[in-house]
Amino acid sequence: MEIILLGPPGAGKGTQAARLVERLGLVQLSTGDMLRAAVKAGTPTGLAAKAIMDSGELVSDEVIAGIIGEALDAIRPDTGVIFDGYPRTEAQATALDGLLTERGRTLDAVIELEVDVDALVDRISGRYSCARCGEGYHDRYKQPVVAGVCDVCGSTEFKRRPDDTADTVRHRLAVYRRQTAPILPLYEARGLVRRVDGMAAMDAVAAAIDRVLDDASS
Ligand code: AP5
Repeated sequence: MEIILLGPPGAGKGTQAARLVERLGLVQLSTGDMLRAAVKAGTPTGLAAKAIMDSGELVSDEVIAGIIGEALDAIRPDTGVIFDGYPRTEAQATALDGLLTERGRTLDAVIELEVDVDALVDRISGRYSCARCGEGYHDRYKQPVVAGVCDVCGSTEFKRRPDDTADTVRHRLAVYRRQTAPILPLYEARGLVRRVDGMAAMDAVAAAIDRVLDDASS
């Protein structure tokens, strides 16, 4: 099964993709995570991407096609993929069609997480994660069970993304509206889009996604 999770910054794509990995054994391909790994490793791609990401603009379609193609080649052909935060432009959507066809894969569903834009600034500016294992938290919606200690690995070190400031989030939302939202009608015309209320609690969103996927595979 190949699924795209689409939605503006903070819609919950990463949160729900991680749950789908656990529940269905799919592989999550997050272009944001891959770029952040490249920045951390100091690769040429990472060095070029850092300033663009910090400003909230999009990294070039060519760079993204390269990293997605490589990542797909590393996945067993019988394992499904969740695309998280990709594609984000019409050119990326076209490139993805080609990459999937070349590998004998077919897109099953595009799940759009619908959210209230005001809530997004709040969600993102409160977000942080464990510096060791990457487990995600939020100042109000998901705190560690023991304050200051990661539930998963016990680390006491946490970090925030440099692009998670309120101003940059607003800019990322504008970029989403201008460059990413226009790809939805392309998938709608192919009957692939399923809408899920991303404002519901995380478990309810996960349950709604399960129903959508049951539908898509029946
Ligand atoms: P990327 O990392 O993809 O960021 P994004 O799309 O802006 O999305 P986020 O990760 O901020 O949000 P999310 O929807 O995953 O929400 P999350 O689950 O974390 O991209 C970063 C940058 O990289 C881009 O700006 C660009 O520069 C570059 N880039 C990446 N991909 C690219 C591409 N394809 N092309 C070009 N450039 C690219 O949730 C957010 C918070 O809300 C969390 O704290 C979470 O706990 C909380 N939360 C989640 N769900 C709920 C809920 N139901 N209720 C309450 N809280 C919730």
